[in-house]
Order: sequence, then structure tokens, then C-alpha cells
Amino acid sequence: MSNKGIGIAVIGSGRAGMIHARNFAAGIEGARLVAVVDPFKTAREAAAAELGLDKSYEDYHSALDDPDIDAVVVVTPTVYHRDIVLAAAAAKRHVLCEKPMGMTADECAEMDSACAAAGVKLQIGFMRRFDANFVAAKEAVDSGAIGDPVLIKSLTRGPSVPQPWMYDIDKSNGPLAEVNSHDIDTLRWFSGSDFSEVYAVAGNYRCPGAKAEFPDFYDNVVMTVRFGNGMQGCIDGAVSVGYGYDARLEILGTKGVIHVGSLEDGTVSVCSSGSGILKPAVKSWRNLFTQAYIEEDRAFVRCILEDSPPRVTGRDGMMAVKVVNAGNRSIRTGAPVKL
Ligand SMILES: NC(=O)c1ccc[n+]([C@@H]2O[C@H](COP(=O)([O-])OP(=O)(O)OC[C@H]3O[C@@H](n4cnc5c(N)ncnc54)[C@H](O)[C@@H]3O)[C@@H](O)[C@H]2O)c1
Repeated sequence: MSNKGIGIAVIGSGRAGMIHARNFAAGIEGARLVAVVDPFKTAREAAAAELGLDKSYEDYHSALDDPDIDAVVVVTPTVYHRDIVLAAAAAKRHVLCEKPMGMTADECAEMDSACAAAGVKLQIGFMRRFDANFVAAKEAVDSGAIGDPVLIKSLTRGPSVPQPWMYDIDKSNGPLAEVNSHDIDTLRWFSGSDFSEVYAVAGNYRCPGAKAEFPDFYDNVVMTVRFGNGMQGCIDGAVSVGYGYDARLEILGTKGVIHVGSLEDGTVSVCSSGSGILKPAVKSWRNLFTQAYIEEDRAFVRCILEDSPPRVTGRDGMMAVKVVNAGNRSIRTGAPVKL
């Protein structure tokens, strides 16, 4: 590491990549953004120009050869995460890998072992663990405020049509991975338990154009969960809902209930005789979790500088992928799947 701080390269300058890149460019204490990497020339050059970077790479191997780069943020389509993380570990670069960690639990175990063997940090991008509201809810559960937690329900519904690579379930593991990974991790985090059984049903209701080429694609899914510790869970996920970005959590306990999140954005409402009360809906995950992504990036740098364990580990990433695969198996077979 140079005395200018941890040198960061963001690999993948798409939607989520630019969130991390902008955070590091704006200033994360102890770090500096050195380069972006993207094989797509237009994305790469636009990112480098916006962020005022001297360096941008077409191929991540070139970034891993750059001595100014100490750590990478992996934000490519999920199918590439494994190869990039293994290459980063071989080059002894610390890794913040976006969710979903990989395509299979075996891939994730390989990535986790490679980083451990290389002595580099591996943090997974479950930024809800850094969101002030989710953290406050977890503290309330842990304090006994609602007695013993019994049922955890989490939903995520996104407004937009999926990125083209997400239609192919073999390339993305579908909305359970791309959308509901966060809910799966939240359920594990709040229950303090691994999943023991899942049952999921899914269908394509809003994306008729994808049906012919991608018959397995689903845009709506609901999954019920039994945890190893006897608790219950429920997840629902959707893409292309149009109305806004909807991420809500409920924890029901023996003595009360906790709600986190709202579809309403801010506190401004407009009321007129013609339209009644109008309130804006949350538009995007980018707005809802802005601060959580900053805290996640800060925590990544801190765990490198302090040589402390990341708050979200490779095991957390792997367990979520295991549940995604079990959920997709349940959708295909129509039967509950034990983990
Ligand atoms: N934590 C979150 O809330 C969150 C939100 C959105 C996406 N994600 C995750 O981030 C990842 C990327 O999603 P996205 O929505 O930003 O996708 P995207 O399609 O917008 O961007 C992906 C970018 O990666 C580039 N790319 C492809 N192969 C590459 C390679 N080998 N090396 C470098 N760059 C490469 C593409 O050209 C593209 O610019 C996915 O794993 C996704 O699940 C996480």
C-alpha cells in the first residue's frame, strides 16, 4: 500500500459498479480510486472521464498487475465473479465482491478458501447490514424488544426490466439471486440461523417478451422458509413492477412486531381538492441505500487497514447462494427442498 492509502480498482462500471466508484472517487477515508475496469469501451471511457481517472483497463488481469492497486471491488455480472476473485486472490489483492457471491456454493467455497489462503480480505456486498434502519431493527430484536422472534418476512421488488444477462437463469440464477439475495441474507442475519428448508413458487407475469427465448425466467417469486432454530421466514421478490423500489422487512415476535422500510419517499405530501393526497414512492435502490453503500465501502477499507474480519464474510455470501440454488430447485420441482 502506498502512503496515499489503499489503491482501489472497480471491476465492472455498470449500475452498481458506478455507485462504488463514485463513493471511492468522492473520498473514502484511507483509500483512493485508481482505476475502473470494463471490457465495454463506452462504459469504461465514460466512467474514467466522469471520475477524472488517468487509468482504466479493458481486462481485469492488467489491473491486477498494476502495483498501485491493492484492492478490487468486483461488480461484473455474477457469472464472472468466481474467476475474477480467484485471480485477485492469486495476485494478493483484497476483494469486495458484490452479491450474489457466485453461481454455486462450491464456487463460493473456492473463492473463500483462495482469499483465506492468500491472506487477503473478502467482503460480500450485502449493504443492508450497513443500513442504519436495518441495524437499529437488529439491535431492537437482540435487546428482546419483541420477545423471541418467530417469523421474519422480507420483500424486494424492483421497478425496472432486468438487465439482458439476467433473463438467462443459467447466467444469473434469476431474481431469487439478483433481487432476493439481500432478503435471504437479512433472514439469516436476523434469525441468527441457517435455513433448513425452503419452498418456492414463481412465474412470469410482467415480461411476456422474454417467454419464448427464456421459458424458465420468472419475474415474481415467493419463498417460505424453515430455519434450523425452528423460526419461520417468508420472502417475496419481483422485477419490472414499475411503481417504485420496494424493500420492506417485518419481524414478528412473541411480544410484538418490528417494521422496517416504506414505499413512501421522504415526508413531503401534496394534497389538493382534485387529486387528494399525493406522496412520491422510492424510485430506486440507488436512492434508498445511498448511505449504506458508503458505509459498506468504508467498512471494507477499515477491515484492510485494521486487519479485522469483514462484517459480511465469504461464508455469508456462500450460504445465501446455497439458498438461492435450493429455491430455484424448488421452483423447478414443485417440492420443498431441504438444505
Ligand atoms: N448490492 C446491490 O444492491 C446491487 C445492486 C445492483 C447490482 N448488484 C450486483 O452487481 C453486479 C453487477 O450488476 P449491475 O446491475 O451493475 O450490472 P450491469 O450490467 O449494469 O454492469 C455490469 C458491468 O460489468 C461489465 N463487465 C462484464 N464483464 C466484465 C469483466 N470480465 N470485467 C470487467 N467488467 C465486466 C459490463 O460491461 C458492465 O458494464 C451483479 O452481481 C449484481 O447482482 C448489486
